[in-house]
Amino acid sequence: MDLFEKLKLNRGPLGSYAKDVHGYFTFPKLEGEIGPRMVFRGKEVLNWSLNNYLGLANHPEVRKADAQGAADYGNALPMGARMMSGNSDLHEKLEAELAKFEKKEDAILVNYGYQGIMSAIDALVDRHDVIVYDSESHACIIDGVRLHMGKRFVYPHNDIRNLETQLERATKLVQDTNGAILVITEGVFGMSGDQGKLAEIVELKKKFQFRLLVDDAHGFGTMGKTGAGASEEQNCMDGVDIYFGTFAKSMALIGGFIAGDAQVIEFLRYNMRSQIFAKALPMPLVVGALKRLELLQTQPELKDNLWKIVNALQSALKKEGFDIGNTQSPVTPVFLNGSIPEAANLIYDLRENFNIFCSMVVYPVVPKGVIMLRLIPTAVHTLDDVEYTIKAFSSIKDKLKAGHYERAMEKVV
Ligand SMILES: Cc1ncc(COP(=O)(O)O)c(C=O)c1O
Repeated sequence: MDLFEKLKLNRGPLGSYAKDVHGYFTFPKLEGEIGPRMVFRGKEVLNWSLNNYLGLANHPEVRKADAQGAADYGNALPMGARMMSGNSDLHEKLEAELAKFEKKEDAILVNYGYQGIMSAIDALVDRHDVIVYDSESHACIIDGVRLHMGKRFVYPHNDIRNLETQLERATKLVQDTNGAILVITEGVFGMSGDQGKLAEIVELKKKFQFRLLVDDAHGFGTMGKTGAGASEEQNCMDGVDIYFGTFAKSMALIGGFIAGDAQVIEFLRYNMRSQIFAKALPMPLVVGALKRLELLQTQPELKDNLWKIVNALQSALKKEGFDIGNTQSPVTPVFLNGSIPEAANLIYDLRENFNIFCSMVVYPVVPKGVIMLRLIPTAVHTLDDVEYTIKAFSSIKDKLKAGHYERAMEKVV
């Protein structure tokens, strides 16, 4: 069979719907200044779908630093991979500051969080080692695990009892292979908003020998007293051996970092294929990241504002009887019951009649019959935004219950 013919016949679980949803439910275009109010299809919407947790995307000092970085260096510099010709004082300065912030000995920058963590997993373990990981891990962790040539054991999401069972299996196995164990989980799970049970996992080190890698994409900058992440929140920073954070969420940028023991970071510097064989993070991004990291540390009111909105939103949703699952972070899921067509009609109603833009998740990401709306509060939302949204959500919940969304709405795309 011709490869292209095959791809055209089976366009993948999401791609097969592209004709009907492209531009509206998938690949929507949000235009205008980044913030709680943006333009969707020519109309202003109240936007709850950006990972701009601290509101840094449009912070005047950030905009100034971004522009200055581009003016001073251009986007081309550095012109190579860090190892070959792309290193700079500013890259090293950013790494040192990130390490200090995370109370680790050293840190390494990665160009994209996704490829960085995937490649770090690939570098850290060999075929003698065993990976034990949470079943709800982000795709980048799963892809990293896929690269692993040795055994991997998965434990049901946050099930520490089962993790112990997997660690027992893994321990027996590495005794034969003379290998080691790497446990991987997330600090904050980006869909459901619950935290990985980091403190409990760290406790297991008393019983088992393993190292812990935590993907804290959503926790970095949002959780813990200083914003150092979920491990700071859970008081177990020392027990997290390898800490991963992305710049793509609270820092509103591109790139990420991995922090840990100096020799392990040096090992990654010389063995992480995605960074050795790829061009370094451009200078304007490094300059922009330094500014954001400075603001994250010197303007704690950004995180305070974020949490003011998070607490107002989540407590009002609960008060109105919404199921928001077990979130313990700014990520705010709202679980409703309904079919996929009902979900589409509901989102259409929210966007067109209430001017609210949020993300929707349906089967297969959540079980059949569940509609998950996902709200991402930010430091630049207001309490009025929360109040308006709660009223709108109460209205759509009533309409859903009354069967209103069973009837097809206008074709949107
Ligand atoms: C848990 C988690 N890890 C990693 C990533 C990837 O980060 P980046 O966008 O920097 O590639 C994301 C982003 O969606 C994420 O949510």
